[in-house]
Amino acid sequence: MSDFTGKEEYQELFNPKVYLESFYHLGSGSRADKYLYFVLKELVDTFTSGKVKGDTLIDIGTGPTIYQLLSACEVFKNIIVSDFTERNREEFNVWLKNQPGAFDWSSVVKHVCHLEGDSISCQEKEERLRKSITQVLKCDVQKTNPLDPVTLPQADCVLSCLCLEAACKDYEAYVTAVKNMTTLLKPGGYLVLGGIMGSSFYTVGEVKFSSLDLNEDFLREAITGAGYVIENFQLYKKTETSVGEQQDFTAYYVVVARKEINS
Ligand SMILES: C[S@@+](CC[C@H](N)C(=O)[O-])C[C@H]1O[C@@H](n2cnc3c(N)ncnc32)[C@H](O)[C@@H]1O
Repeated sequence: MSDFTGKEEYQELFNPKVYLESFYHLGSGSRADKYLYFVLKELVDTFTSGKVKGDTLIDIGTGPTIYQLLSACEVFKNIIVSDFTERNREEFNVWLKNQPGAFDWSSVVKHVCHLEGDSISCQEKEERLRKSITQVLKCDVQKTNPLDPVTLPQADCVLSCLCLEAACKDYEAYVTAVKNMTTLLKPGGYLVLGGIMGSSFYTVGEVKFSSLDLNEDFLREAITGAGYVIENFQLYKKTETSVGEQQDFTAYYVVVARKEINS
């Protein structure tokens, strides 16, 4: 029997509130702290570089999280978020509509505001992001059009963090998923991928989810094979030797790649 936890397991067992409480209080000492410090800095650099900008950004496998969008909303007017599970989309909407019970993102928002030079308050930052979100859609990276049945004009940027390693059973499925996501992007547009390498699992509460064990060579090949030129590949390599109970990993990465004009 395969240990792969597929979309049905996500639909049934992935608890967005437990996921957020476990990983997204920055500075709480959770293993995600290092991931967040790394990825938030890389995303600030990416979205203030002046290259990655435009009208529309599509985030794939958003889950219930907003951290990956906090800098993007400074340079994209329309942000479309998407996830496979209904519960994740609901949890995202609770934050979007500023309803009671929404997750407290203040530790993360404060850090991003600080990285961006403290020019606006945390409240303004969240409001700015809320205003830029135009749709919350269902997606499945295994479909040729991941947003099916919705068809969108091709976007200027496709972003995805920690989704493909969770959603893909093997390398072949990963390569196909990158190609599927690429159909959503304009030629000349940017793919921004963030995630984890050398990981086989992570836990959300008591539930263990599988992770595809990625390495740099494979990732470079999958991205260039889908018709991109890689412009930036940043890695944060793990220094401690212990295997955590929440997840195992060797490195975090952020890749920025440009879709070739004639692909
Ligand atoms: C580890 S979570 C990442 C969530 C968020 N992007 C983050 O950075 O924390 C993995 C996400 O992938 C989603 N997912 C799983 N299978 C998927 C599929 N086939 N298509 C799209 N998303 C999927 C899950 O619902 C979940 O939200």
